[in-house]
Amino acid sequence: MNETVMFFDTTLRDGEQAPGYSMTQEEKLRMALQLEALGVDVIEAGFAIASPGDFESVKKIADAIKSSTVCSLSRALEKDIDAAAEAIKSAAKKRIHTFLATSDLHLRYKLKMTRDRALEQIKSMVAYARNKCPEIEFSAEDASRTDPDFLAKAIETAIDSGATIVNLPDTVGYATPEEIAAMVRNVKTRVPNIDKATISMHVHDDLGLAVANTLAGVMAGARQVECTICGIGERAGNAALEEIVMGLRTRKDFYHLSCNIKTEEIGRTARLLSSITGVKLFPSKAIVGKNAFAHESGIHQHGVLNNAETYEIMTPESVGVKKQDLVLGKHSGQHAFEDRLKALGYTTLSEKKITQLFAEFKRLADLKKDISDRDLVALVEAKGISAALDPEKSYQLESFVVNSGNKMTSTASITLRLGEETFQEVAIGTGPVFASIRAIEKLIKHPFSLDDYQIQAVTEHRDALGEVKVIISDSTGTYRGRGVSTDIVEGSILAALSAVNNMLAGSKAALSTGAASTYQHSFEGDMLGGGHTDK
Ligand code: KIV
Ligand code: ZN
Repeated sequence: MNETVMFFDTTLRDGEQAPGYSMTQEEKLRMALQLEALGVDVIEAGFAIASPGDFESVKKIADAIKSSTVCSLSRALEKDIDAAAEAIKSAAKKRIHTFLATSDLHLRYKLKMTRDRALEQIKSMVAYARNKCPEIEFSAEDASRTDPDFLAKAIETAIDSGATIVNLPDTVGYATPEEIAAMVRNVKTRVPNIDKATISMHVHDDLGLAVANTLAGVMAGARQVECTICGIGERAGNAALEEIVMGLRTRKDFYHLSCNIKTEEIGRTARLLSSITGVKLFPSKAIVGKNAFAHESGIHQHGVLNNAETYEIMTPESVGVKKQDLVLGKHSGQHAFEDRLKALGYTTLSEKKITQLFAEFKRLADLKKDISDRDLVALVEAKGISAALDPEKSYQLESFVVNSGNKMTSTASITLRLGEETFQEVAIGTGPVFASIRAIEKLIKHPFSLDDYQIQAVTEHRDALGEVKVIISDSTGTYRGRGVSTDIVEGSILAALSAVNNMLAGSKAALSTGAASTYQHSFEGDMLGGGHTDK
């Protein structure tokens, strides 16, 4: 029987920490449900002490997830452990992941702590956590740059105090595969109580070695791997879950190891992450990029037609990546539409929401002949699947007229509806989008600044939908909005309006971390033709 490697996913903690990947609580919950469907053994749902928003999202995930273990990160401090324990209280299976740096560099310059003091801290805090939670993981932060003798001592202390998973992070992505293997062997041979714990790998990708290093750790005896979808994470990111899984599966002849991941869910999970965060999948990304299974060269195509194994080491179906988008059109009925949404992973939409989305789909089908899966995903994401905002209590676009040209000042006239009432405003700006956003700001009488604006075509064709994503902020927080349309000005207005509705609905939809503020603001002068919106 092959041994099993446990998958610990930290997309919602280490991954979400990366600029551009912040998610709202509701988005994190959707991602967690998909991670559970993917079959990950442990979901690191967040860092409960980091902010009230992080605490709430860990708690919501703990309430909802049934088959995966839900974990919260905590420093080796009582207040962190208390927050983690409280946030995961309701989970069916739970774990506290507590960490302390062990390298001399971190001890001296970051923690200002001696080695002896660090051992005491590990001992008391792991024991403290163990009193609050049945399963404890201890991480020796910066393990790969820690003196091997001291690392062994720290790990022994953690296991003695109740940790049953011991993680050896290459926090700064510095180690080579040979060094990682040696570190794992060192811990296996020098830690007397290591048989009471599982060794875990947590590797960053600063030198592009995260997956290779993780697999080297596994070969040396680690049986838990910490990773993120598409390798998102601090700086250059973490090890990519899909690459480790498919490495183990495709080269089972070499690794002789199993895992619980349902590989057919990989594509869906990566697409969900991309559609939630708005960060497109890199076309050449291994396993899930759009070119990962494309064969352009004639010689390759010829080989694949004769026998796919000539140039394909795994099938697109095995990772849930379809070669062809399915297409719906204006004659498609609500059943076909609903079936397609389900196949795309939207399984929890209410009847009311599906009917609303179907009306939008019909409107779109009148403008655009073929509606592909990617169009559908963009439509659903832009309309919001949570029904968090009541359409009767939020602003809807009634109509707009813009006038724009290279020898004139752009003007926008916008009419919005709120319940039964309609309101109209006109504004000028140095571009049609800028003028429209100004008109919206005048209409709602609530100043905000536009922190990010992105536009991209959903598909490649001339009649492609334009998908617009904006981030706005006011004194209460940062809010995201999306809009899709075949008309990019309409898409921009819809995106701004959805962000405005989130903002007016209050802090509920605020991003839980401040990461959005790290976005570059450079577009404002160029794309919208102006500086900050006037207040
Ligand atoms: O990279 C790292 O060392 C971490 C720890 C908190 C596990 O993320
Ligand atoms: Zn990390």
